[in-house]
Amino acid sequence: MTTIAAETIRTDRLLLLPLRVEHAEEMAAVLSDPDLHTFISGTPAGPEALRSRYERMVAGSPDPAEAWCNWVIRLDEQECLTGYVQATIGPSDDGLVAEIAWVVGTPWQRRGIATEAARGLVAWLAGKPVRSIIAHIHPDHHASAAVATAAGLTPTDQWHDGEIRWHLSLG
Ligand SMILES: CC(C)(COP(=O)(O)OP(=O)(O)OC[C@H]1O[C@@H](n2cnc3c(N)ncnc32)[C@H](O)[C@@H]1OP(=O)(O)O)[C@@H](O)C(=O)NCCC(=O)NCCS
Repeated sequence: MTTIAAETIRTDRLLLLPLRVEHAEEMAAVLSDPDLHTFISGTPAGPEALRSRYERMVAGSPDPAEAWCNWVIRLDEQECLTGYVQATIGPSDDGLVAEIAWVVGTPWQRRGIATEAARGLVAWLAGKPVRSIIAHIHPDHHASAAVATAAGLTPTDQWHDGEIRWHLSLG
């Protein structure tokens, strides 16, 4: 049983807010650019479809051993949502492992937002009983690799569905 739940995380410029269903409408606009899916599956969802997805995400994993932690990224300066980060936390042979991911809407990219959010997320996870963090990144996705590096992860020689597994041991 994994009882870890998302909490508000503060960084210099950002507030990572635990996902709520009411975020769907604003997030549908934030995530509306099809280019966001160059390296990740899916297509942009409209507000209603996103609302249904968020209802399922907020309800949590049907597997009690797994925790779904999701945040939207709020940029102080513009008082708006700009993307999301997530951590799927579950058991492994070596204790709890968190698989993390990040997405920043196209208008807000290249301003260090994903880097700052990922660092905040990793620091938060380091304060939980999580033993290691992983991420899966397409080998051609240099921006995401830069985010992972800045958050302290390093690439492994393991592959998963055409992506490289990155790893950080929290000791
Ligand atoms: C990957 C992503 C989250 C990066 O968001 P971001 O807020 O623009 O990232 P940052 O501004 O923190 O930049 C991180 C690094 O990537 C580089 N970078 C950002 N966008 C880039 C681009 N389009 N091309 C090349 N490099 C880029 C930055 O220069 C920076 O590198 P540096 O640390 O060496 O200076 C964003 O591009 C995105 O959401 N992409 C679509 C979703 C996705 O693929 N998510 C990753 C799943 S693993």
